[in-house]
Amino acid sequence: MPEHNIKIVKPVDSVRGQITLPGDKSMSHRALMFAAIAKGISKIKHLNIGADALSTIACLQKLGVNFQLGKFTVDVESPGINGWIQPQDGILNCGNSGTTVRLMSGLIAGRENLDITLIGDKSLSSRPMNRVIEPLRKMGATISAENDRLPMQITGKLLDGIQYVLPVASAQVKSCVLFAGLSAQGKTFVEEKIKSRDHTEKMMKMFRIPVFHNKNIISVHTLRRSIPGFNYSVPGDPSSAAYWVAAGLLLPKSRLLLRKMSMNPTRTAFITLLQASGADIELIAKDKNLEPAGDVVIRSSALRQFDIRSKHVPGLIDELPLLALIATQAKGISTIRGAKELRYKESDRISSTVAMLRSIGAEVEEFDDGMNIHGGMKLQGGEVDAQGDHRIAMTASIAGLISEEPVYIRGWSTVDISYPNFYNILDRLSKK
Ligand code: S3P
Repeated sequence: MPEHNIKIVKPVDSVRGQITLPGDKSMSHRALMFAAIAKGISKIKHLNIGADALSTIACLQKLGVNFQLGKFTVDVESPGINGWIQPQDGILNCGNSGTTVRLMSGLIAGRENLDITLIGDKSLSSRPMNRVIEPLRKMGATISAENDRLPMQITGKLLDGIQYVLPVASAQVKSCVLFAGLSAQGKTFVEEKIKSRDHTEKMMKMFRIPVFHNKNIISVHTLRRSIPGFNYSVPGDPSSAAYWVAAGLLLPKSRLLLRKMSMNPTRTAFITLLQASGADIELIAKDKNLEPAGDVVIRSSALRQFDIRSKHVPGLIDELPLLALIATQAKGISTIRGAKELRYKESDRISSTVAMLRSIGAEVEEFDDGMNIHGGMKLQGGEVDAQGDHRIAMTASIAGLISEEPVYIRGWSTVDISYPNFYNILDRLSKK
């Protein structure tokens, strides 16, 4: 790898300042997809313009949806889901984005005029697709994928509604089945044992697509009417905010103000967990819509160890590598168990997190489903390989701010996946 793909993050004394967060990545994907389902013109503000959201745009463009991209806005003009056209080469490239491929597969499977091959980069091509193939086949979909990996070919056909109990807690799988349910005959029910992020269901409600809740069962039925275009502003991304929360808590004499972060309870479990461990984090709720948002104030704090178990994992899934780093600075030994899902992310996040922490001087024990992290450690700094994973690159960068010596991050540019502006903000907040 060329030297220019190594970023040096040096230790700093504190972090101070205000941050406008990027738009939430999960909500950005969904807003783009709903705008493509809708017939007419939609305006999305504060879109996350990372490479993942651009992959969703590229796929939808090939289905005949037009996008006018501004700096943080996008105007979408769509013929509506019934007007989607077959791309000439039949290929949709989902890049690095698990959310794009899993949600798009649900949208495509029931469209009788489409015959699509979904492809992705090396990382996405090694991630399991059986989690969406299985329920979609139960609905009658025609799908082929060697070893349940990409490329995945879907020949659209009329689907039947199903009753599906999610075997893994996954918002991507839940959303895939709900989207497929919009093109299926009869009703589709999805039951989740542990609640995962609920943006798809909430947006269905916002955009007047009939969706029903009965305890932990969500149901939809065939979408008969087209929905009109809409205006939507994406709240700030809590999973991006988490890096600044960590820096603000762990560095002395720090104070950060984060603007308009999503306060959707399915996304803020890391805040609650850290508060229970002694963190000084203040949430100022501002926007009490279906998707609430507000400002967050973070001040330096002494933290105690924490224990994360399987029932907590869906609410913390994207913050776990960072929580493992935070645990190195807390008092006592922290544990993360029941988190095998981490092995199927952009990298194997149990092994990449353990490798990252060990290479900067932390003491960690690895298990098949998690890790133990020894707290109260002075991190030495050192060289980390991001392993093509944006969350490992950003976690290692926060480690650089709090270590004795710099952290050298190989493959840092992968932060573009969710947070292209990450290093500009890091430089601006850092006080020497
Ligand atoms: C996402 C759901 C999560 C998460 C991913 C985004 C989504 O994946 O890790 O970054 O937007 O639905 P799983 O649902 O597979 O856990």
